[in-house]
Amino acid sequence: MKNKKSHKLWERAQNVFPGGVNSPVRAFRSVGGEPVFIAQGAGTYVTDADGHEYVDFLSSWGPLILGHAPRKVVKAIRSAAKRGSTFGATTRAEVDLGEFILDRLPFAERLRFVNSGTEAVMTALRLARGITGRQIIIKFEGCYHGHNDALLAKAGSGLLTATGNIAEASSPGVPEDIVRNTLVLPLDDSAAFDAALKKYADQIACVIIEPVPANAGLLLQRRAFIEYLLTSARAHKVLVIFDEVISGFRLGFTGYTGRENLIPDIITYGKIIGGGLPVGAIAGSAEIMDALAPKGPVYQAGTLSGNPLAMAAGLAALSELARHDGAAYSYLRDLATHLRRAFAAEIEPLFAARDWRIQLVQDESLFWLSFRKAANSETVRTVTAIEGFSAKVYAQIFHAMLDAGIYLAPSAYEVGFLNTAMKKKHIEYFVSTLKKIVQKLPEKISGFN
Ligand SMILES: Cc1ncc(COP(=O)(O)O)c(C=O)c1O
Repeated sequence: MKNKKSHKLWERAQNVFPGGVNSPVRAFRSVGGEPVFIAQGAGTYVTDADGHEYVDFLSSWGPLILGHAPRKVVKAIRSAAKRGSTFGATTRAEVDLGEFILDRLPFAERLRFVNSGTEAVMTALRLARGITGRQIIIKFEGCYHGHNDALLAKAGSGLLTATGNIAEASSPGVPEDIVRNTLVLPLDDSAAFDAALKKYADQIACVIIEPVPANAGLLLQRRAFIEYLLTSARAHKVLVIFDEVISGFRLGFTGYTGRENLIPDIITYGKIIGGGLPVGAIAGSAEIMDALAPKGPVYQAGTLSGNPLAMAAGLAALSELARHDGAAYSYLRDLATHLRRAFAAEIEPLFAARDWRIQLVQDESLFWLSFRKAANSETVRTVTAIEGFSAKVYAQIFHAMLDAGIYLAPSAYEVGFLNTAMKKKHIEYFVSTLKKIVQKLPEKISGFN
């Protein structure tokens, strides 16, 4: 058996954690089979418990934009650990990282550090409600913002016919009373947004969006749509939250906000900001952020917030990203271009005679393999545009790639991440392996049933 040690660990894990995991997608349920247990990572490689090496296109779901165990980050964590791991008191490390970030984000005046993206979003929602004195939150179908109750919501059954209806809980345990204050709208639909604003006008506290939605595939939005959200929300005194937990420090240091110069009221960060350790943050103007306790009335706190090890890791990682005028981002852009070109040259021609094809969707170092009917070439911008057969094709590709030493997200709806430890040869290996796999896959969609 190839994965003997992983299998043994998996058996043990079943008796310890619900479903064997500490976060559901790790269980491989949507691609089938058993997960491999990762023992270590170095650069762009991870090694599993049985000693198999993989080129890692997951990068821990985004934080590891510099690859695994980058020397400077490891050194910073080691040196911080020697001075003590947590004090529950103010430290220089948090001021250093906070200043470093604010100096480079011209649109933010204040930050608060928390321990995860979920926590950052939870705080952002409370802040928006606290400031506006309103209750309703608008989110978009296909955007994920962590496992906050208010956002574990799906479109209510009437939504397709009458936009702006109240949502339903998408998980047991989420009180209906809470999601009653959430509206779930389709992406890429300004009219639906207008209708919601009109219907609930002065009850809406905020609208939250991943400006580059990367949790139901990569649903690239038109700039005009995001711009429209900003202007019409402002006209109704509705606050706008950009959830940049994935896109922050990835689409360039200043994320989507800086790249597009489209500035929301509140921004949430996570992942890259902690250099691989658990950090989230909320950022905004002094006026908005100062509503947080102790300066303002909106309560928020955390025993381990601004943790010195995490701050040191974050500072080391962000310093690397900011060095040489952001050379890391130029490098990632080159890798992304290489991927796009190799994909167009090697993969696209394979689909000339098929009734389905793979589309590479990409923004900077984020990419997604989207499965389309051959006739359908428009950009996928909404969840409902994702083809039903995607999960089945992806499951086959995922396992074949894993066998060939390429680690991808274990779900068709998750994106891939390039990191600076990657070389062009890794991209070429990715494409040549995918090519071999696709050549063996059924030529007709019906073959996946
Ligand atoms: C856009 C976005 N927001 C929030 C979160 C939640 O972050 P965390 O998993 O750190 O709680 C995620 C996690 O993937 C995310 O992608």
